[in-house]
Amino acid sequence: MSEAPTNVSHETPPKAVIGIRRLKEAMPHPAQTRIFTVANQKGGVGKTTSAVNIAAALAMGGLKVLVIDLDPQGNACTALGVDRSGAGMFEVLVEEAPIATIIQKVAGFPDLECAPANQELAGAEVSMVNMVARETVLKFAIADLLENRLTMGQRYDYIFIDCPPSLGLLTINALTAAEEVLVPVQCEYYSLEGVSLLIETLRKVQRALNPKVHLSTILLTMFDSRTRLANDVANEVRTHFPRELIDIPIPRAVRVSEAPSFKQTVMTYDAASPGAIAYMQVARAIAERGVEQI
Ligand SMILES: Nc1ncnc2c1ncn2[C@@H]1O[C@H](COP(=O)(O)OP(=O)(O)OP(=O)(O)O)[C@@H](O)[C@H]1O
Ligand SMILES: [Mg+2]
Repeated sequence: MSEAPTNVSHETPPKAVIGIRRLKEAMPHPAQTRIFTVANQKGGVGKTTSAVNIAAALAMGGLKVLVIDLDPQGNACTALGVDRSGAGMFEVLVEEAPIATIIQKVAGFPDLECAPANQELAGAEVSMVNMVARETVLKFAIADLLENRLTMGQRYDYIFIDCPPSLGLLTINALTAAEEVLVPVQCEYYSLEGVSLLIETLRKVQRALNPKVHLSTILLTMFDSRTRLANDVANEVRTHFPRELIDIPIPRAVRVSEAPSFKQTVMTYDAASPGAIAYMQVARAIAERGVEQI
């Protein structure tokens, strides 16, 4: 309970929770902006839920965070209550619009922003087919943004790129732009087969486009400790990825799945619920790892 935000009463009905939240105990700033791509070509494993909730938790910890919604489904925008009707990542990728021009502030957070996935993004991969250096568009767009912010005396602590459930050009752009990859693993059959394929793609990107990118973080999502299967998969991940795994499983929890329909993260929808507490602990673990790496 110590992780619950200071100005949220447990009696407050979740839907009514509004206003800016900060934790009592701030999280450590990384030495440089950490860019995470949240990827898994398997659909519905908790990519978006993890991206937005970890981002929100870090922002509540006093860090400056940007979420780039690179999935044409726009689920990250929905969860953050961000408008998708204007210019968005399509213009950034296809028309070279600076990311700074499309960024929106996320209501209720002091330092959380989102670069929205607009409807047009669904056509971006096709529009990019004949572009020169089409895999590195996002990388240079983010580099420009970071430079622009630095000259304004601002610096992002974290950027999270939420990917669609495929290994197409959007995900390749994300892997080329990031240094770290966060893979949510749902504790189900075939979960690890999907991770192997992702790692193969990652190796190709490392060789051809971005030698720095690496799988730094694995998260167990929608974990149901009562099932044997979930525990078996968790143990397998512990064995194969002992360094990458953040061993704080995110429980399957109804508040987590309800939050997006109220245009909220679970961190604001019900900060005292088990899912929110787990994401807060994961965010803190990520922030602390970032400092250890220095
Ligand atoms: N811990 C959880 N407890 C309950 N429901 C969850 C949890 N995490 C995610 N969900 C729900 O599971 C569904 C899939 O989650 P999410 O959208 O985050 O997956 P995704 O990997 O981003 O999906 P896609 O591949 O379509 O982008 C959503 O309806 C979400 O609300
Ligand atoms: Mg998603």
